[in-house]
Amino acid sequence: MAKRDFTNTGINTRLAHVGNDPRDFHGFVNPPVVHASTVLFPDAATMAGRAQKYTYGTRGTPTTDALAAAIDSLEGSAGTIMVPSGLAAVTVPLLAFLSAGDHALIVDSVYGPTRHFADTMLKRLGIEIQYYDPHVGGGIAALMKPNTKVVFTESPGSNTFEMQDIPAIAKAAHAGGAVVMMDNTWATPLYFKPLDHGVDISIHAATKYPAGHSDVLLGTVSANAACWERLHEGFLTLGACPAPDDVYQVLRGLRTMGVRLERHEQSTLEIARWLEKQPGVARVLHPGLESHPGHMLWKRDFCGSSGIFSVVLDGGGQSQAHAFLDALEIFGLGYSWGGYESLAVHVYLGDRTIAKGPYEGPLIRLQIGLEDVEDIKNDIARGLKAASAV
Ligand SMILES: Cc1ncc(COP(=O)(O)O)c(C=O)c1O
Repeated sequence: MAKRDFTNTGINTRLAHVGNDPRDFHGFVNPPVVHASTVLFPDAATMAGRAQKYTYGTRGTPTTDALAAAIDSLEGSAGTIMVPSGLAAVTVPLLAFLSAGDHALIVDSVYGPTRHFADTMLKRLGIEIQYYDPHVGGGIAALMKPNTKVVFTESPGSNTFEMQDIPAIAKAAHAGGAVVMMDNTWATPLYFKPLDHGVDISIHAATKYPAGHSDVLLGTVSANAACWERLHEGFLTLGACPAPDDVYQVLRGLRTMGVRLERHEQSTLEIARWLEKQPGVARVLHPGLESHPGHMLWKRDFCGSSGIFSVVLDGGGQSQAHAFLDALEIFGLGYSWGGYESLAVHVYLGDRTIAKGPYEGPLIRLQIGLEDVEDIKNDIARGLKAASAV
């Protein structure tokens, strides 16, 4: 059989085959799940020089190599680390690239726990944190300081889904000597490839679409050639390696991620468009909709949309939001997203300083699962009816 080369194949072919080569492990199509701390060396000289591919469980195994190779192929990255959660995929690169006395710019619509990490641990370590408007674009140049070392982006923003002009931000950040990081969990590398748009470090909560079944926590961080060594060194120093079964489950999830995402995308767009016309709805925050202020940016840079967005109720507050949520039968009330099942959350914006509205009423974030669209619509209609009855 000829050597396998998936560089020019379609995305679903790549998802089905990249990572491990079955011929490296007796022809079994899936890689072995290597449970490891100790790795033996054949002699003292090899041990002293660490002169073999694998040396200790925290430093990589055939299982982590398989997932890293698969993600590198999707991201176009020089290297990928895996960490035990999506949140660790945020904290590890920030710790690897920031030092006391540095300044970091973080988008105001960032994932809440990223903000908490910055406001607590990073500040305690002597790092100055400044939040910026997600619509800043190239105007971020005016916020750069001589000690700005990291610009942290997330597009669309968590819960409020503002689009950022990533190429313009990256250009200005690089001109000021900063490293650009992006939490790209919403789009996955199938719908946006950060490194092709000037980002240096692409971050994913693989817990979401890559794992896909609401049962695994994992984070991946992929770097370009310029940033890989420092990221990798920081990862090894912190010892934040994931469990092999979780790494295996995410590689397993990747094999079907393309088809799952297509379904999430189609159902979500249909429901978002339908919601725009429902009584009791003020706005729908989904960048794939023509009505979204960031739609043109999304169209320019992204090649798809996933299954999570927010709906703004037309007036009311917490009691309307709770009535909506409590009337749902198919949607679960739960955090996270990217799994097979629909979920709803009342969005909290109390920690925002810039990207906080005003909105006409409460925001409900919906993750659209793989259920039948008519059933999901009927469930949302139940929620809207209950909210309007308050
Ligand atoms: C945008 C984003 N980034 C990171 C994370 C963190 O992922 P995890 O739940 O695996 O820690 C989440 C989780 O909801 C998220 O929404």
